Amino acid sequence: MKQSKTWFSEWFNTSYYHTLYKHRNNDEAQRFIKNLVSFLKLSKDKTILDLACGKGRHSIFLNSLGYQVVGADLSENSIQHANQFANEQLTFKVQDMREPFNIKVDAVFNMFTSFGYFDDDKEDLKVLSNIAQAIHTDGVAVVDYMNVHKVIQHLVPQETIQREALEFNIKRHVTNGFITKEIHVLDQEESFNFQERVKVIDLDKFKTYCELANLKIKHIFGDYNLSAFNKDTSDRLILILTK
Ligand SMILES: C[S@@+](CC[C@H](N)C(=O)[O-])C[C@H]1O[C@@H](n2cnc3c(N)ncnc32)[C@H](O)[C@@H]1O
Repeated sequence: MKQSKTWFSEWFNTSYYHTLYKHRNNDEAQRFIKNLVSFLKLSKDKTILDLACGKGRHSIFLNSLGYQVVGADLSENSIQHANQFANEQLTFKVQDMREPFNIKVDAVFNMFTSFGYFDDDKEDLKVLSNIAQAIHTDGVAVVDYMNVHKVIQHLVPQETIQREALEFNIKRHVTNGFITKEIHVLDQEESFNFQERVKVIDLDKFKTYCELANLKIKHIFGDYNLSAFNKDTSDRLILILTK
């Protein structure tokens, strides 16, 4: 059997990732976006940066609602894919979120756990500082993170998931402050190994980060319907930040 190892940042761009997370579909993403723009009262003349946009599903939907959107991601492949949807009001660029964005917008959206990848906390802080730099004085930022408390409480150490012809063998563990998922994909006669690794950042740690990055936490939600955050029961930790 052929076996290969793929780097973490590329896992998100594989068809396997999209097959595994198929149930986290566009409907969910679009419902979240609608709830957010309505809550934030973001008028259609506003500009939005979708930071770590992946293949652009949030950017594309935001643009369809009338916003001017820039989608930015480290992955050249994802940006190349997203670019087929580009128009005058929707652009995409390759961007490492640790590097300055050189852009001013009304809102930055960081969606679906697109944060907490770096070993050094200073790099997480750099991302938050870049977000603060990128928004206008009255701008807003949204960080949509996992509720690490609940994830750790309910961590399933080993699981096999069948999706279409693919078998995913998944191992999960918390090691050195990271929630790590080892994913072994069996695709007919070939098998591939991937790793997803996200830092254990709870609300207290976000509070410290935000203070250091000169961002204020204005609201805290626990799911895509924008219900109140509850450490034990919420699936998400969604922060609404201002300067
Ligand atoms: C979990 S995916 C989410 C993508 C998108 N927000 C969505 O919901 O479909 C995380 C994304 O972060 C991107 N990423 C990882 N490290 C990055 C970095 N240093 N700078 C910018 N993007 C990065 C990956 O390429 C990937 O597209």
